[in-house]
Amino acid sequence: MHVTHLSLADFRSYALAEVPLDQGVTAFIGPNGQGKTNLVEAVGYLATLGSHRVSSDAPLVRMGAERAVVRAQVRQGERQQLVELELNPGKANRARINRSSQVRPRDVLGIVRTVLFAPEDLALVKGDPGERRKFTDELLTARAPRMAGVRSDYERVLKQRNTLLKSAAMARRHGGKGVDLTTLDVWDQHLARVGAELLAQRLDLLSVLGPLADKAYERLAPGGGPVALEYRGPVEGSSREELYGGLLGALGEARKQEIERGVTLVGPHRDDVSLRLGELPAKGYASHGESWSFALSLRLAAYELLKSEGHEPVLVLDDVFAELDVKRRERLAELVAPAEQVLVTAAVEEDVPGVLAGTRFAVAEGEVTRV
Ligand SMILES: Nc1ncnc2c1ncn2[C@@H]1O[C@H](COP(=O)(O)OP(=O)(O)O)[C@@H](O)[C@H]1O
Ligand SMILES: [Mg+2]
Repeated sequence: MHVTHLSLADFRSYALAEVPLDQGVTAFIGPNGQGKTNLVEAVGYLATLGSHRVSSDAPLVRMGAERAVVRAQVRQGERQQLVELELNPGKANRARINRSSQVRPRDVLGIVRTVLFAPEDLALVKGDPGERRKFTDELLTARAPRMAGVRSDYERVLKQRNTLLKSAAMARRHGGKGVDLTTLDVWDQHLARVGAELLAQRLDLLSVLGPLADKAYERLAPGGGPVALEYRGPVEGSSREELYGGLLGALGEARKQEIERGVTLVGPHRDDVSLRLGELPAKGYASHGESWSFALSLRLAAYELLKSEGHEPVLVLDDVFAELDVKRRERLAELVAPAEQVLVTAAVEEDVPGVLAGTRFAVAEGEVTRV
């Protein structure tokens, strides 16, 4: 798929922006702070209902405005669709497809798919487990939009269970009668059921993504690998039932501690993906260049996976070439150049490798001008 037109209203620095887009490569060039990332962040938002830079919507709404609107005309083969999201920080966001009446924001997932490369990606390798969970779970949702429902079910159950544990912990401290264990049993089952679903999907994802990441790493940094992805969590199993049983058992073991601390200590929200480079974990061992290659490999693997499953995404490369040495830059450019649509941002034209010739826009002072 590709985006043929992007419209923004009161999104980030843009009061209004209308950007017609072509298939192939489009680069947005302009000095720092001019609004290049803001444009591609909007495309990413349509794909994930979130920003790659901030965790809440408030900063996405133009200072002084009440709401932002992001709209895109999307082409998938012969099919054209218009998707629109209205961001209302503090209130429910709204969505429309083909100008028809309201749908849930979640219903637009799957119309725009992106794989977004950004300087923040280094955190995939060097950062906390949460960064890697966000990566796997966003990719799960791009593969199968219904996973957005599973993820939000899990978040909801976790929140409610934590509330229960917290009040239990408070009651204990104040000599109260403690937690109603039958209620907690029920929440354990909810958590294990939705958790097992999420866990099964993550494990399945890693089994296909691992080999793709290794292949991508070899292309970016020949002879530098191999790399592997290993799921890290207390529960093992190959079927949904085994994972359910495992989670329930692990919750049982953690129960005493959970009641003391007032928080859920077991479940997919605590798990991690270990990134291995050769014999070593990348985190804490890999060099800066190796860490970059690994992060790029994960994104490239995501691209290959979605493409192989018939969901060719828009590739977004936000200011990444400036981070890379010439060899990696050229190799990355060659790997992404054939994609259906590639959106690149860079401070100067010279940062964009030659194979990524295509449409150019100049971005300056909130104006996006085709050059
Ligand atoms: N909610 C907002 N309202 C107004 N301006 C914003 C908002 N969010 C970010 N900006 C402005 O957008 C600019 C950064 O845009 P960005 O796209 O990140 O720049 P770059 O071209 O370097 O990628 C900054 O000047 C920032 O002040
Ligand atoms: Mg930027």
